[in-house]
Amino acid sequence: MIVGIGTDLLDVGRMARELARQGAGFRDDVFTLAEIAYCEGMGQPAQHFSARFAAKEAFWKAVGPGPEGVSLKDVEVEREAGGRPRLVLQGRALAAAGRLGVRGVFVSLSHTTTLASATVVLEG
Ligand SMILES: CC(C)(COP(=O)(O)OP(=O)(O)OC[C@H]1O[C@@H](n2cnc3c(N)ncnc32)[C@H](O)[C@@H]1OP(=O)(O)O)[C@@H](O)C(=O)NCCC(=O)NCCS
Repeated sequence: MIVGIGTDLLDVGRMARELARQGAGFRDDVFTLAEIAYCEGMGQPAQHFSARFAAKEAFWKAVGPGPEGVSLKDVEVEREAGGRPRLVLQGRALAAAGRLGVRGVFVSLSHTTTLASATVVLEG
């Protein structure tokens, strides 16, 4: 049974500007080391960072509003062999999913030069 769905759309240019303006501090607060390594290894890092940021936001929309001070790093986009993304939850994200009775988490990403989107579906 589907117990939650969330979607988010991000402006890639705005992410690029934030990464340039705030530098590594912002990047390291939001993204895990593995996410950073993947995105920075790509030709257009801001597109991949944007899609991952959208996935974190989409997860919180799907699960319900998070408590104060949630860490966006508690929701991580991993890549399976072949490139399919999957979400790995930790900390408060894992606890919130547990309260909702989530047994499966599905994510899909898409991005262009200007926009990035993510959709998250939670199965209970
Ligand atoms: C892999 C594929 C889905 C990427 O699609 P795209 O339109 O080039 O790129 P999008 O921006 O929409 O999506 C990119 C995201 O797809 C996701 N993705 C990659 N491989 C995937 C896979 N096998 N399954 C699901 N999602 C995948 C990734 O999250 C990627 O983002 P990331 O690199 O930041 O992690 C696409 O190249 C593909 O293989 N499609 C299969 C169907 C097909 O052949 N269509 C063409 C004829 S209609």
